[in-house]
Amino acid sequence: MSAPRPSRRAGFFVRIAKLLTCAVASHAGSIHAADLQAGKARAQACIACHGAQAVSSMQNTPSLAGQPDGFIQWQLVYFRSKTRNSDIMDPIAATLTDADIRDLGAYFSSLPPPAPLADADPDPQRYARGAKVAQANRCANCHGETYAGQQAVARIAHQREDYLLKALRDFHTGKRTGGGIAAMPDAVYPLSDDDLQALAHYLSRFRKP
Ligand code: HEC
Ligand code: HEC
Repeated sequence: MSAPRPSRRAGFFVRIAKLLTCAVASHAGSIHAADLQAGKARAQACIACHGAQAVSSMQNTPSLAGQPDGFIQWQLVYFRSKTRNSDIMDPIAATLTDADIRDLGAYFSSLPPPAPLADADPDPQRYARGAKVAQANRCANCHGETYAGQQAVARIAHQREDYLLKALRDFHTGKRTGGGIAAMPDAVYPLSDDDLQALAHYLSRFRKP
């Protein structure tokens, strides 16, 4: 049976091609390197809401620490172009240049992500339900096994629960569409509001099984 071979080989070449593209991209990136110190200086305008170490203690406001560089950059581009609507963030992003966005991406992604919550889970049943819904809907396929995100895909582990729920509801109602590829609206489309609440609870308190 030789039939599966070509496709397996094709898969291999696709992977190699991707690796090469990444290598080229990161090499090109190092020529026009983002300036981490400039990002830190620019971020002074952000800490009032997102927190001094970019770990948020403000309602419905996300922590940015440890988000993938690509995710931060894309969201700022979406706010700036009003592809993502926020009365608060759109005017702020409108003041940012491409260089600012690169520097801010480098800075926030360099910060340690929010620590797991230390208190006892007030609702272990909801946690268990969230884990089930996440598995059934393959959230880890894109967000990674520890939900740390990658490239344009958000880190969602240990994000604020209220913000996670708001984000999931915004995707569910279509308020937030993402960038052309409807990855998230598709992912949450079949889910109930109880599912969304369970997911937000689970991800905010995520611990490795
Ligand atoms: C007045 C408060 C405020 C300030 C100042 C502020 N933000 Fe925000 N930011 C928010 C809120 C609220 C949201 C959530 C928007 C939403 O989806 O409703 C947000 C969302 C974001 C997101 C999307 C993150 C995610 O997980 O989806 C990024 C990136 C971001 N802000 C970057 C910045 C940067 C960079 C600055 C400084 C230049 C900044 N913010 C200043 C309130 C603020
Ligand atoms: C096909 C890939 C894919 C799948 C599957 C997926 N996601 Fe996402 N997710 C993304 C991408 C890409 C983004 C960034 C969205 C954007 O750019 O608007 C995102 C963003 C999010 C956000 C917003 C984070 C923030 O800080 O703003 C949450 C919450 C989220 N995903 C949760 C989930 C959950 C829960 C599931 C499973 C039900 C899931 N995702 C499945 C790709 C995916």
